[in-house]
Amino acid sequence: MFRNSISHVILVFLIAAGICTDASTQTLYERKNVIIDLGVLDKRPIQLVDPFIDWDSAWTKAQSLLSNLTLEDKVDVVTGIGWAVGPCIGNIKAKPDIGFQGLCLQDSPTGVRFADLVSAFPAAINVGATFDKLLMFRQGLLMGREERGKGVQVTLGPCVNIMRAPEGGRAWEAYGPDPVLASFAAQLTIQGIQSQGVIATVKHFVLNEQEHKRTAQSSQVGQRALYEVYLRPFKASVDAGVGAVMCSYNLVNGTYACENPALYKILKDELGFRGFVMTDWWAAHSGAPTANAGVDMMMPGSATIATTESFWGPNLVSDVKNGAVPETRLDDMVTRILATWIKFSQDDGFPEVNFHSFSPSLGKHVDVQAHHKVYIREVGAASAVLVKNNRTLPLSLSNATYKTIAVIGEDAFGPSNGLNSCADHGCVDGTVAQGWGSGTTYFPYIVAPVDGIKAKADPHNLSVVSTSSASLAPSIATMADIAIVFVFANSGEEYITVDRNDLHLWHDGDALVKSVADVQKTIVVIHSPGPVLVPWIHHPNITAVVFAGMPGQETGNAIADVMFGDVNPSGRLPYTVAASPNDYPAHVERDASEAHYTEGILVDYRWFEARNITPVFPYGHGLSYTTFAYSNLTVKPPSAERKSYRVSVNVTNTGTRAGHEVVQLYLALPMWTCQAEGCAKELRDFNRVHVRPNQTVTVTMHLYKDDLAMWDVGRGRWVVAQGVYEVFVGASSADVRARGKFAL
Ligand SMILES: *[C@@H]1O[C@H](CO)[C@@H](O)[C@H](O)[C@H]1NC(C)=O
Ligand SMILES: *[C@@H]1O[C@H](CO)[C@@H](O)[C@H](O)[C@H]1NC(C)=O
Ligand SMILES: *[C@@H]1O[C@H](CO)[C@@H](O)[C@H](O)[C@H]1NC(C)=O
Ligand SMILES: *[C@@H]1O[C@H](CO)[C@@H](O)[C@H](O)[C@H]1NC(C)=O
Ligand SMILES: *[C@@H]1O[C@H](CO)[C@@H](O)[C@H](O)[C@H]1NC(C)=O
Ligand SMILES: *[C@@H]1O[C@H](CO)[C@@H](O)[C@H](O)[C@H]1NC(C)=O
Ligand SMILES: *[C@@H]1O[C@H](CO)[C@@H](O)[C@H](O)[C@H]1NC(C)=O
Ligand SMILES: *[C@@H]1O[C@H](CO)[C@@H](O)[C@H](O)[C@H]1NC(C)=O
Ligand SMILES: *[C@@H]1O[C@H](CO)[C@@H](O)[C@H](O)[C@H]1NC(C)=O
Repeated sequence: MFRNSISHVILVFLIAAGICTDASTQTLYERKNVIIDLGVLDKRPIQLVDPFIDWDSAWTKAQSLLSNLTLEDKVDVVTGIGWAVGPCIGNIKAKPDIGFQGLCLQDSPTGVRFADLVSAFPAAINVGATFDKLLMFRQGLLMGREERGKGVQVTLGPCVNIMRAPEGGRAWEAYGPDPVLASFAAQLTIQGIQSQGVIATVKHFVLNEQEHKRTAQSSQVGQRALYEVYLRPFKASVDAGVGAVMCSYNLVNGTYACENPALYKILKDELGFRGFVMTDWWAAHSGAPTANAGVDMMMPGSATIATTESFWGPNLVSDVKNGAVPETRLDDMVTRILATWIKFSQDDGFPEVNFHSFSPSLGKHVDVQAHHKVYIREVGAASAVLVKNNRTLPLSLSNATYKTIAVIGEDAFGPSNGLNSCADHGCVDGTVAQGWGSGTTYFPYIVAPVDGIKAKADPHNLSVVSTSSASLAPSIATMADIAIVFVFANSGEEYITVDRNDLHLWHDGDALVKSVADVQKTIVVIHSPGPVLVPWIHHPNITAVVFAGMPGQETGNAIADVMFGDVNPSGRLPYTVAASPNDYPAHVERDASEAHYTEGILVDYRWFEARNITPVFPYGHGLSYTTFAYSNLTVKPPSAERKSYRVSVNVTNTGTRAGHEVVQLYLALPMWTCQAEGCAKELRDFNRVHVRPNQTVTVTMHLYKDDLAMWDVGRGRWVVAQGVYEVFVGASSADVRARGKFAL
């Protein structure tokens, strides 16, 4: 319909039969046209928060420093000093002759790991569940402030691996299965962090979607899925100016990711990455092949945790001398590291490291928490996903229907052995507010759910009875007018335990829920790294259910804000909750030496749609205490002034409470582009807006050229296909409220 209006500026290439070499797509492209250049349509623009010098100048400045470094100096700049010998998780030696103070590299995506007087931020999966671009940026900014305050120059986050298998142990450290949500979240988090002059590290590059056999399994993926799903958030991160990339433990196509040259050709040549690539800790398996593949920094320096020997260090000096690694490659490595350091003005000075990861008593105990807990609580509440509510929530305080509230479950309580008693949270002791592994931070304190609820109930003379004991649960529940049961699942990184065994709640959570629901009206709150099975969901006494993720230190206050209606919930599931584990397209590959990504681009909700499988709760689902009506969808074609399709919809709050609505834009590409596995619409944009009762707000979203594009396997490039594009605007992937279309 809009084709005529833009056809004068688009170049249409008719593709002759037989050009494409890829057998699976050949028949498609023989018959179809592919628009390669869209003229007025631009790439999605990024509002860069970049007070620093440009990359070209940083590179020029870095190159001018090379002549002042000996071969041994250069090798020092690219080789970490070893494990647990410096204050940080990774350390690079200073080179005072060129004013280089060295580098402190530190975990994690939830804040500053192994330090005191820092905040324990909500997990990335919660940041994703907010679907709020401002909150994404702000969490990055606040983490950046804390990192800078502690002297961390390079922070090891964000993590953008895809929740391909719902059991994946580290899924909570990233943004779920959708690559576009992950791309926005990564971009905004990176910009927030880097606005503070701290270098962000996007990880783990690439195809590191599970923990089982993570150093001994090859990820095998088709090119279309590689580009459209798994590389997409890395591309977005590069576009946002990310300073560092971390290569992953797994193999790709049979070659270790940290020594697979094809990957760095993509990252540096195709995506235009200007910063440096570091290995994950001990992810390298060789010296020269790793350097020659395109990796720029060896971390932590030693070859394994048990040795001080390095693949680089003196070995790299020899490799350069004997020609195994060209000196130009070493110069490029050093240039990239110094250029990134210069780019973020760290050459103008940076706070000294004032904590010690391995000898805490050597730290100076600088408090960097400021007022961040206010924002942590806000993200915690904004990421709570109310998936079911049969006139139960919010709990009223005045004229309360429920005068006595039972709070039940070990997940409702704080730790009994003291905060942070298990290394890297690698055990369950009270409520689950982060997963385990290197993606953690010490909790400065933790507001337990029962305490958050009491803090609201007490001033209103509501009484709270509680127990962490499963056997006492039914009798405590019957003492009250309503019960809130807290249940959980946990997961984390391989060096503690690999992946989740299954999608069930832990510690017999299903039995706990049922035992309470059999005797009392029940609200279920789930703290989990991802989806869990909810076999009790249709129990008539279970009238409200909240997926609360892993909300960080303010967990109890955040859930109480939602329970009592101080916050009108707007969190959305950043994954699908299925009726059966068999409904998901992929699972952790526990034994095989290869993981085949046979579902292609049909990750998570796309698979459910393509296969017509009804989930219990669809991707993007989440309820509010009010209702919203959508109307007046418009899809405006690009013009000389506006280089995108502009998709607008009016959202009216038709209920009685103010609240946020998360408006989601999905796009279906022309039918003929479907792969053999099937076809589904895909998330492309979203906005979270505040709407007062009776107010109508116009929500505008955009489709740029890169949103329309698909990866053409035969040509090895992004193309835009001819045909009809369908636009779906709604409150979840399965709750479409308005639709439109346009043709190219
Ligand atoms: C680099 O070396 C040159 C001469 O060798 C010297 O003039 C210059 O000051 C040095 N620059 C730095 C930054 O050390
Ligand atoms: C993996 O190997 C296949 C077949 O050789 C090739 O087409 C593809 O580009 C490779 N993928 C990566 C990420 O290197
Ligand atoms: C909601 O609760 C009422 C009783 O209070 C019940 O009749 C109805 O079936 C419930 N609805 C759902 C969707 O569970
Ligand atoms: C609470 O009850 C009192 C007395 O029954 C009534 O005057 C008041 O309006 C009620 N408040 C609310 C918020 O319903
Ligand atoms: C709570 O109870 C106390 C003592 O009975 C009373 O003074 C106070 O007004 C009550 N507060 C509310 C909010 O009902
Ligand atoms: C629901 O709770 C009531 C008590 O409030 C109980 O009598 C009833 O058996 C419960 N329903 C079911 C299906 O367990
Ligand atoms: C939708 O558009 C029509 C025509 O422009 C307008 O009269 C109406 O008020 C709009 N509805 C809403 C809810 O904005
Ligand atoms: C919303 O509009 C309805 C109907 O016009 C009106 O009865 C109601 O009071 C309004 N609500 C608010 C909060 O303004
Ligand atoms: C709703 O949509 C219509 C038509 O698209 C627009 O003219 C109107 O201003 C919008 N209304 C509000 C209140 O935003």
